[in-house]
Amino acid sequence: MVQEYTVAQVKEQNKQDKVLVLINNDVYDVTSFLNEHPGGEEVLLEQAGKDATEAFEDVGHSSDAREKMKSFKVGTLVASERKPEQPKKSAVDWKETGESSDSSLKSWVIPIALGLVATLIYRLYFMS
Ligand code: HEM
Repeated sequence: MVQEYTVAQVKEQNKQDKVLVLINNDVYDVTSFLNEHPGGEEVLLEQAGKDATEAFEDVGHSSDAREKMKSFKVGTLVASERKPEQPKKSAVDWKETGESSDSSLKSWVIPIALGLVATLIYRLYFMS
């Protein structure tokens, strides 16, 4: 069975020479990884005992890093304290946002408008 932690327990365990971090509702023991972490131990120590999801996602960790982190997983957060999963930074979710459907409209209106202007200029200069 997967060990379940509360946020308070993650914080508490952390004092016992262990470095636990919370990432996407899972608990990772990165104690043995501190020296190996390509991003340095400082950043991990800074997040010790805390929810490091945002910091972790902000870096845009590679799929290799995500694969590696599985080996440090020691448990999950209790259901009552879980947060909705954050979308991965790498995922392309611009289709859902209103603002971007607007910009995709611009992406074809502008070339067509430029094409029309070019045609007009061409006709003015070369057809008269
Ligand atoms: C179990 C957790 C973690 C694992 C396995 C992990 C693994 C890695 C790996 C493999 C890299 C090399 C680049 C890549 O492959 O993306 C990396 C870079 C980095 N990581 Fe982590 N990481 C973890 C947690 C964190 C956390 C919580 C932070 C918080 C700030 C962090 C900050 C960074 C930074 C700043 C870099 C350097 C990026 C660069 O130089 O471009 N990592 N990490």
